[in-house]
Amino acid sequence: MHFSTQSLPLAFSAFALSANAISLSTDSADSIKDVAKTLAGGIIQTYNEATSNNGPPGLFSKPYYWWEAGAAWDAMVQYQTLTADKQYSDLIGQALQFQRGPNDDYMTPNQTKSLGNDDQSTWGLATLSAAEMNFPNPNPSSQWLNISINVFNLQAARWDTSTCGGGLRWQIFTFNNGYNYKNTLTNGNFFLLAARLAQFTGNATYATWAEKAYNWTQSAGLLTDDYHVYDGADATENCSSTNHIEWTNVFGAYLYGSAVMYNLTNASPLWKARVSGFVNATDRFASQPSAPGILNEPACEPSARCDTDQLEFKGGFASSISRATLAAPFTADKLMSLLETSAKAAAAHCETSNQASNGSSVVCSDHWYKESSSVGDSGGLGELLSALGVVQGLLVKETNGNLTVGGNNNNTATPSGTVTGSASGTAAPSATGTGVAGHLEVGWSLVGAVGLVAGLMGVL
Ligand SMILES: *[C@@H]1O[C@H](CO)[C@@H](O)[C@H](O)[C@H]1NC(C)=O
Ligand SMILES: *[C@@H]1O[C@H](CO)[C@@H](O)[C@H](O)[C@H]1NC(C)=O
Ligand SMILES: *[C@@H]1O[C@H](CO)[C@@H](O)[C@H](O)[C@H]1NC(C)=O
Ligand SMILES: *[C@@H]1O[C@H](CO)[C@@H](O)[C@H](O)[C@H]1NC(C)=O
Ligand SMILES: *[C@@H]1O[C@H](CO)[C@@H](O)[C@H](O)[C@H]1NC(C)=O
Ligand SMILES: *[C@@H]1O[C@H](CO)[C@@H](O)[C@H](O)[C@H]1NC(C)=O
Ligand SMILES: *[C@@H]1O[C@H](CO)[C@@H](O)[C@H](O)[C@H]1NC(C)=O
Ligand SMILES: *[C@@H]1O[C@H](CO)[C@@H](O)[C@H](O)[C@H]1NC(C)=O
Ligand SMILES: *[C@@H]1O[C@H](CO)[C@@H](O)[C@H](O)[C@H]1NC(C)=O
Ligand SMILES: *[C@@H]1O[C@H](CO)[C@@H](O)[C@H](O)[C@H]1NC(C)=O
Repeated sequence: MHFSTQSLPLAFSAFALSANAISLSTDSADSIKDVAKTLAGGIIQTYNEATSNNGPPGLFSKPYYWWEAGAAWDAMVQYQTLTADKQYSDLIGQALQFQRGPNDDYMTPNQTKSLGNDDQSTWGLATLSAAEMNFPNPNPSSQWLNISINVFNLQAARWDTSTCGGGLRWQIFTFNNGYNYKNTLTNGNFFLLAARLAQFTGNATYATWAEKAYNWTQSAGLLTDDYHVYDGADATENCSSTNHIEWTNVFGAYLYGSAVMYNLTNASPLWKARVSGFVNATDRFASQPSAPGILNEPACEPSARCDTDQLEFKGGFASSISRATLAAPFTADKLMSLLETSAKAAAAHCETSNQASNGSSVVCSDHWYKESSSVGDSGGLGELLSALGVVQGLLVKETNGNLTVGGNNNNTATPSGTVTGSASGTAAPSATGTGVAGHLEVGWSLVGAVGLVAGLMGVL
């Protein structure tokens, strides 16, 4: 292979001249906050670059898809709560509001070509974090909780019993690639949204839907008795053949949702067994022989083939497991230890530079378990979000009650353990392609098609 130093991006040649590795002391809350602040600063710098190039509020530039912006704002909402650094408060609130769509439900018209159920729920989970954390809202006529409930209600109405005995399809619009795929990121996000809404509102309808989504994932063979969570299955084959690829963030959604259900049901044996099973199975994502205990993305990281989207997944996973320790305190020893080892490794793979450059003045490599501390061929938003997730996750116990399992909104949604009742939705499949006709462009692939392609390429 031909390689020339002239092909290195400008930013990296600059880093080669004046790079400083980041040092993190995981037993000091101040050190953790300092590192989180540096990483958050890099994320906002990347964002400011997009808006200064006339990008609309809330979005990052190519190659970052809409969903990843939603994940970024969720991380930043948590950042503000975990560190008490409020300097980005207005900007975060504006981003979440600007993208909410005309009906307050993240059916954002500009995004029709890439708007799958999992993209929509990524944003709906971000506004739910904002509601749970009592995040300042610049537009009180559009409440954070209301937006998340609107997302939930739309998705519950899309529950599709015409194939596979139920489940949500990956895509919303028939014209997007992946409409015939039922995937665990979509159904896992829905499960998590339902579980957290149940916890936050005390409304039993959500708890029933959470159970239903969990049950379906099992019955479709996408969640096994030994806690493998597979990517998805083809609805045209009634989900009879499974795409066995596994991702950290999807696994994290099921783990966190189960922890919330455990808490909500007052430590029911069923949910306790599930939480224990997931926690035990986290080893799968931290078992590189050279670096046990350091989180990695087994489906693509060892082969260095993670795409732009996949580079963020460890950040979503980290947020999930850190918050799960609040809902299910018995998981804290194991999960916090995984976060701590990973955070140290992540920080050692980040570098700051004083030199002005495009993009961020801090860059991170995603390969935390590899020895080299060079950021190498990396440095994007996904790497920053993954590093921020493991680092700030260490602070969940440090917020003096500002971050709790059911949110700090002082509402009446205390876990009662008596949630009963049945789902109110009538679960008719609906909301199919009424969007922009004639757009047959390939829908971007958050997980499913990427997994299929990776499978074909023999990555696994
Ligand atoms: C949608 O796109 C238009 C045209 O680029 C832009 O003016 C508008 O701000 C965008 N809206 C959102 C919510 O991103
Ligand atoms: C809640 O969402 C609905 C749209 O479904 C909207 O009409 C209403 O104004 C919103 N209310 C609040 C308080 O946010
Ligand atoms: C499809 O799968 C569901 C759930 O496993 C099953 O109930 C249904 O009978 C299957 N349909 C067909 C046509 O095989
Ligand atoms: C519970 O949530 C469901 C679904 O959003 C809603 O239809 C219902 O009105 C809620 N019940 C109460 C008592 O708020
Ligand atoms: C989910 O499955 C459990 C155990 O198999 C069952 O008790 C429960 O009723 C199911 N819940 C829903 C909402 O389908
Ligand atoms: C924990 O996971 C290991 C393999 O990863 C498995 O052999 C063991 O049975 C699991 N234990 C529990 C309690 O699930
Ligand atoms: C539920 O969460 C709260 C808040 O973190 C915690 O104090 C409580 O112990 C949890 N309940 C159970 C059964 O673990
Ligand atoms: C990136 O930085 C270079 C050198 O400072 C500058 O010429 C170029 O216009 C910048 N590109 C963008 C997209 O800002
Ligand atoms: C908790 O919230 C209070 C009130 O907003 C704030 O003064 C304090 O700094 C927060 N503490 C942490 C650790 O975030
Ligand atoms: C919740 O209520 C307590 C007692 O009334 C109050 O001190 C606290 O500031 C409230 N928290 C929020 C986030 O509103």
